[in-house]
Amino acid sequence: MFDLANTRIGIVGLGYVGLPLAVEFGKQFPTIGLDINAARIRELQVGHDSTLEVAAEELRQANHLRYTDRAEDLAACNVYIVTVPTPVDGYKRPDFSPLIGASTTVGRLLKPGDVVIYESTVYPGATEEICVPILERESGLRFNADFFAGYSPERINPGDKDHRVTSILKVTSGSTPEAAAFVDALYRRIITAGTHRASSIRVAEAAKVIENTQRDVNIALVNELALLFERLGIDTEEVLLAAGTKWNFLPFRPGLVGGHCIGVDPYYLTHKAQQIGHHPEMILAGRRINDGMGTYVVQRVVKLMNQRRIAVMDAKILVLGLTFKENCPDLRNTRVVDIVREFGDYHACVDVYDPWVDPQEARHEYGIDPVAELKSGHYDAIILAVGHRQFREMGAKGIRAAGKPNAVLFDVKYLLPAGSVDGRL
Ligand SMILES: NC(=O)c1ccc[n+]([C@@H]2O[C@H](COP(=O)([O-])OP(=O)(O)OC[C@H]3O[C@@H](n4cnc5c(N)ncnc54)[C@H](O)[C@@H]3O)[C@@H](O)[C@H]2O)c1
Repeated sequence: MFDLANTRIGIVGLGYVGLPLAVEFGKQFPTIGLDINAARIRELQVGHDSTLEVAAEELRQANHLRYTDRAEDLAACNVYIVTVPTPVDGYKRPDFSPLIGASTTVGRLLKPGDVVIYESTVYPGATEEICVPILERESGLRFNADFFAGYSPERINPGDKDHRVTSILKVTSGSTPEAAAFVDALYRRIITAGTHRASSIRVAEAAKVIENTQRDVNIALVNELALLFERLGIDTEEVLLAAGTKWNFLPFRPGLVGGHCIGVDPYYLTHKAQQIGHHPEMILAGRRINDGMGTYVVQRVVKLMNQRRIAVMDAKILVLGLTFKENCPDLRNTRVVDIVREFGDYHACVDVYDPWVDPQEARHEYGIDPVAELKSGHYDAIILAVGHRQFREMGAKGIRAAGKPNAVLFDVKYLLPAGSVDGRL
């Protein structure tokens, strides 16, 4: 049992988290990556990663890695690592269906001595309360007698080429001291930055979810300050730059909070809190402020348009950027859609331009058809919503060329010099 030399790894879910991990393990251990999305498996089999996280050359370096969409191909594995999504439903409640599906799959493959490690972000207790009972039911095996569990949260940041899976210190944990030692040793084989062995799975789960909750609340505070400073007629970035000269002032900036993690994970924690009778205030207040920022941006732009006597109804609006963050194609939970929809409510005509997105995905996820190229002299207002490098390279002059002579230019991202735009957060 717990024999590193005979480890055969199965990774369940080959998205932003699962693929880079599979590639690193696949350089050292026999590894099979499973995904229920057959199209994803086909692209990986021909050496292409559409998330742009892993380059073709790196995929080639993973000599011992194979891809499959058939669960039975993982039958010979003895360590399973689950990296499936953990979204929220329409009521912002945790949606455990991917974790339940993956646990059912793994449970049917489990053999005595196997270890199942979860990486998906959850609330403290979820692995042992939700996933382990499924593993027991499907396998007929006993937890911590026949099979073991671990939890090791992922900290990667899509699009970030400096902080890679191997260079980010990783928290590990296990369901028994021996399992914890094995999980830690396993990750130490690939993580050059080292590991931090947490005392329990629940501690490791809690650590991950508060990392993102802390960011969410901090951004919410700065967003609230941006609302306040606008009323006071002072520029938020100037205030933040001045305050940032103090050694312990945290460098957060206002903005939209989208994506698969920061805008979602806090709801896992608040759900658990409510389940045990604690009503979280700070965390939900932060979520409310951050979720209102798209509407606020539109209000600001509409005011500026009014001041220039530009009618909002039927106005031509250009939104630059649709992804949830700069320089990556990730559209999940992007809050730029709030800006697009809000302008739609004003009966304005909105074009979205984003050189990073897959147009089919934008249509499928949000019913938005991004324009393929920019018209010139066409728009009444331009909102720079995402800080892609292409927009930085265009500069204020290049961006303004898409607008009419008196068009409003609003910068959500502090991408352009303050004096070159008409408004910003
Ligand atoms: N993306 C990030 O930056 C990031 C960072 C840290 C942690 N996380 C967490 O990691 C987890 C995974 O996130 P992600 O961004 O990699 O998601 P993702 O959507 O990019 O990838 C998940 C993959 O799992 C597959 N999948 C879903 N159900 C499956 C099943 N039953 N069997 C096999 N495959 C299945 C999907 O087809 C998809 O390809 C989430 O809990 C997320 O919160 C994400």
